[in-house]
Amino acid sequence: MTHRIARLRAEIERHNHAYYVLDAPLIPDAEYDRLFRELQSLEAQHSELVTPDSPTRRVGGKPLDAFAPVRHAVPMLSIRTETDISDAGAIAFDARVCKELGLGESDAPVEYACELKFDGLAINLRYERGVLVQAATRGDGETGEDVTQNVRTIHCIPLHLKDSSAEVIEVRGEVYMSRRDFERYNEKQRAQGLTTLVNPRNGAAGSIRQLDPALAARRPLSFFAYGLGEVRGWALTATHSAVLDALDKMGVPVSDERAVVRGAQGLVEFHRRIAAKRDQLPFDIDGVVYKVNSLALQAELGFVSREPRWAVAHKYPAEEQLTVVRDIDIQVGRTGKLTPVAKLEPVFVGGTTVSNATLHNEDETRRKDVRIGDTVIVRRAGDVIPEVVGVVLDQRPPDAGKPFDLFERLGGKCPVCGSRIVREEGEADWRCSGGLFCPAQRKQALLHFAGRRALDIEGLGDKLVEQLVDGGIVNTPADLYKLGMNAVANLERMGEKSALNLLDAITRSRQTTLARFIYALGIRNVGEATAKDLAQHFGSLDNLLAADAEGLQQVRDVGPVVAQSIVDFLAEAHNREVIAQLRASGVHWPEHEQRHTAELPFNGKTFVLTGTLDGMTREAAKEKLEALGAKVAGSVSKKTDYVVAGAEAGSKLDKARELGVTVLDEQQFLELLMSE
Ligand code: IVH
Repeated sequence: MTHRIARLRAEIERHNHAYYVLDAPLIPDAEYDRLFRELQSLEAQHSELVTPDSPTRRVGGKPLDAFAPVRHAVPMLSIRTETDISDAGAIAFDARVCKELGLGESDAPVEYACELKFDGLAINLRYERGVLVQAATRGDGETGEDVTQNVRTIHCIPLHLKDSSAEVIEVRGEVYMSRRDFERYNEKQRAQGLTTLVNPRNGAAGSIRQLDPALAARRPLSFFAYGLGEVRGWALTATHSAVLDALDKMGVPVSDERAVVRGAQGLVEFHRRIAAKRDQLPFDIDGVVYKVNSLALQAELGFVSREPRWAVAHKYPAEEQLTVVRDIDIQVGRTGKLTPVAKLEPVFVGGTTVSNATLHNEDETRRKDVRIGDTVIVRRAGDVIPEVVGVVLDQRPPDAGKPFDLFERLGGKCPVCGSRIVREEGEADWRCSGGLFCPAQRKQALLHFAGRRALDIEGLGDKLVEQLVDGGIVNTPADLYKLGMNAVANLERMGEKSALNLLDAITRSRQTTLARFIYALGIRNVGEATAKDLAQHFGSLDNLLAADAEGLQQVRDVGPVVAQSIVDFLAEAHNREVIAQLRASGVHWPEHEQRHTAELPFNGKTFVLTGTLDGMTREAAKEKLEALGAKVAGSVSKKTDYVVAGAEAGSKLDKARELGVTVLDEQQFLELLMSE
């Protein structure tokens, strides 16, 4: 029995790591649940065999009255922030370090470890003999709060370290909420008319400081390590980067976005490289951190007023700013959803100038009590639409507008087509009841269909769609494939050349993937991820068209609401007709028979793509692999089966070689795809 329990725990931990740290699950969710339930039931029968680091102990625990104070064995300090966001910030730091170390022009440049500055909450994880015994917040740096119960619910944090039984290792790092988890959480809350989180940072901090661990467990959090606290019985390496490598090997999550560089130039390049990909990162960062890599030099540099001289945070433009609401407009979306949008005094935020920000829906606008004339906090992070996250109430002018009332504002009618607006019971959104009679809905549906992540018709933007719909030339996506040279060249601002380009793009869009096609249809509640899951599950459009609500719910992450949206969409004769017309006009994709995931050729295989491929974009390569059942992960680990290395492949290729993972060049990759 003890043996079986130990086996189950090891197995579950392996899957937790693959799922939460490597983002590359090895088994279906149902199988994981089965293992978990078996362990739970064995532990229930033999309570004497339960250990505090069993994976079943992540959930549960009683609500607390207050957090106990924890005195840090080694104080948790903060770092200096360089607010000059230009290159000069990095250059000044290197100059200070060199000066302190007495280094001149003729000396070798200083080696630095560069990292991201995660935007969450600092946490100290104390492992004794490899087992997580305590987690504490930073507090005032000397004394924090004991948040062990809540931290245990964070799945990517190991309850015990791999291959380490050092007397004490304190791991320091940041608890954060990924953008995707933040959006998902808020979407769910919004749909139920409940309060939303202001931003991922508040989400992380609020969840960790939640006294009821059951509530904390509902908030999806993650963690990255960036350093150490107290250490006893572990021989330290010589550099900071090697410390992080060692933590990574112990199963602690460490971000891959780090580098060891030399001199000011190296810092500047890192700052720029990360700035360019900041929007694409799955989580918020507010800057990067540079640390002198040698631990000996760190000791030599020491501290000044509780801040290390060997580290600095170099910022990026803020993702939240204050501005004033000039007006509140109401926009009609693809499915008729009426969204209040704040028209703002233009403001530079998250790297661009923003003059519109979504207020999501009526309830949220009222809850935040946003009124015309108010000063508000606007947030723009990643490629997410800018949003108003809150009002600065003490700056409300005496002549500010009234509390927001959507129905009254619109006089009960769609601002575009004049149809009645409706809000169904239990729904947070008002909708235009005009359906595809409403030109706004038609336009949005076309823009969605032609979008980059859907059928990707380059050049079919707002202005063109406006003319095509207003001119009565295009009513449904299927009409796009009937467009001829005459119709297009006569549009405003359309020379012969751009007309040819557009027709060419339309022609090219005929060849697509099933996932893109499903997404392009614009079914309510079916986003890109769900479309991919549907395509993978059903394998062909006809299988999907034939499915009922029950069959649809067999698909991963598809619950009753999404299933009903799909059923409703397909029950509409008009929609079936458009689908038939699209197929008749030559829109096609590779199909495979309905196979269970286990039968797909690359099922269970994890690929990592790095560098540039000549013949296809990374996105296209990813789609092909996923269609064949593979999982495409962002970082290389022992679990990676293949690394596909294009031109200028970087650290991922090195890591693959180091771990002995099979590396394919573009030619070999194409051959492998062909063989399937
Ligand atoms: S090092 C003695 N590294 O930023 C050095 N901090 O003032 C201790 N932070 O609240 C900090 N990412 O939680 C370090 N890669 C990183 C970081 C990081 C985020 C946070 C940290 C603290 C603040 C530093």
